[in-house]
Amino acid sequence: MAEKRKVCMLGATGVGKTSLVDRFVRSIFSGSYRTTIGVTIETRRVRCDDRELDLILWDLSGEDEFQEVQISYVRGSAGFLLVIDGTRRPTMETGLRLHAAARAVAGELPSVIVLNKADLAAAWEIDRATESALESAGALVTRTSAKTGAGVEGAFSALARAMLASEALLWRG
Ligand code: GTP
Ligand code: MG
Repeated sequence: MAEKRKVCMLGATGVGKTSLVDRFVRSIFSGSYRTTIGVTIETRRVRCDDRELDLILWDLSGEDEFQEVQISYVRGSAGFLLVIDGTRRPTMETGLRLHAAARAVAGELPSVIVLNKADLAAAWEIDRATESALESAGALVTRTSAKTGAGVEGAFSALARAMLASEALLWRG
């Protein structure tokens, strides 16, 4: 039986949290927007070297008014996937705020930051310097497109690897 790890999808409204989960779990993309109410939970198994992990993906609503409730959803997480919409720079500030609030509840868990909608290059609002600043704040940063699938497998496997690596450190003391 595979081990299970809870992962919370964090990020502002409409950044593509649900679309990334749909792409990763079902290999589909729907261009139509249906906002998530509360939370939706999906699972996918990944291989990490010689181990199998069931990632339990908690896909949260990005609605600001739900933030208090959302925070209670992050308990028991092993990692965070923070989603920023690369075509809407203000979603970076919102996302970083949510990330900080989530870490205050669940601890400094391994996190991957994805700059999503990379297929919309002409509308891109996040320059390389900003991307590097995010990296130097200690997170893995990567570009994804839920539409084309680019970078999606890589983002989730990087998070799985980071979660296992941080557990290994804890074990060694
Ligand atoms: P909430 O549940 O409201 O917080 O939103 P969300 O973060 O789950 O966003 P969702 O996945 O519903 O996507 C919002 C809109 O962006 C939808 O119309 C998607 O089709 C679109 N979208 C998501 N990812 C991408 C992407 O990589 N590229 C493009 N072009 N559109 C995307
Ligand atoms: Mg959603």
